[in-house]
Amino acid sequence: MSDYSQYLDFTKEIAFESGKVLNNYFGNIKSINKKTASIDLVTEADLHSEKILIDKIQKKYPEHTIITEESDLKDKNSDFRWIVDPLDGTTNFVHNLPIFAVSIGLQYKQKTILGAVYNPAADKMFYASINNGAYLNEEIINISSSNTLNDSLIVTGFPYIHDKKWDISFDIFKTVYSKTRGVRRLGAAALDLCFVAMGRFEGFYEFNLKPWDICAGSIIAKEAGAKVTDWNDKILPFSGKRILATNGKIHNEMVNILTSKELDIFYN
Ligand code: IPD
Ligand code: CA
Ligand code: CA
Repeated sequence: MSDYSQYLDFTKEIAFESGKVLNNYFGNIKSINKKTASIDLVTEADLHSEKILIDKIQKKYPEHTIITEESDLKDKNSDFRWIVDPLDGTTNFVHNLPIFAVSIGLQYKQKTILGAVYNPAADKMFYASINNGAYLNEEIINISSSNTLNDSLIVTGFPYIHDKKWDISFDIFKTVYSKTRGVRRLGAAALDLCFVAMGRFEGFYEFNLKPWDICAGSIIAKEAGAKVTDWNDKILPFSGKRILATNGKIHNEMVNILTSKELDIFYN
C-alpha cells in the first residue's frame, strides 16, 4: 500500500492555515463580489485563502497541477492534481453562518488518494487517505447504521443557476422529504459529505456541483464506509455533475428516486 502520510500531513497543515485566515475575516467581510450568477458570491476571504493554498502547494510541489475554484491555473500534466475549494459555503460565510470550510483533495493518476475538509469556525478537521479510514480531529468516524429511508435524515443543495433542472429539483426534494425524516440544506457541500461520513446524515445528493466541492468530501465519506456514486449508481463523475453519497443501506432507495423517468433531463 502506498504511503501518502506526508501529503496528508501537508494537506491538513495548509487547510488549517488558510482556515485560520478565513476565521479572521469571518464577521468582518468588506468586499463581496458577484460572479456570473447574481447570487454566486466571492469575497476577499475566498481569494486570500486561495492565494495561501496555491502559494504553499506551488512552493512544495512546483510540478503538480492545481485546480481551484477562483483561479484558472496552467495544467502541468502531472500525475498529481490538487483540487481546491478555498472557501466552501461562501454564502453562509457572508451571512455570518459558521457552516463553511476549506476543502482540499489530492489525486494521483486521476484517482483521489486523500482529502481534508476543515471547518475553522468549529475547529473541526475531517480527513482521509485511501484505505486508511476517515477521521475528525484524530478520531475515526463512521457512517450511520440506519437501514431505511424512512429512518433517515438527508442533506442536499441547489445550484446558483435557476434553470429547468433547478425547477425540477424541488420535485425531487419533495419526494425525498416525503419518504424520510426530513431534508436539510446547509450550504457547504464539502461539509455535507463529511456529515454523511460521521453519521449525522444517512445521505447527500446534489447536482451541478464542481470537482472542488466534492473531491475531498467524497474520499472522506468513502473511507468512513459510505457509498458514493452517480445518481444512477454508476461511477461518480469527477465533474460534480451529479452525486449521491449514502450509508450504503439506503442507496438503492435513493437511486430509485433519482432515476425516475421524469428526471431524464438530468442525464442529458
Ligand atoms: C457551494 C456550496 C453549496 C452548493 C453550491 C456550491 P461555494 O460552494 O457547496 O452547498 O449547494 O452549489 O457552489 O460557492 O460556497 O464554494
Ligand atoms: Ca464550493
Ligand atoms: Ca468556494
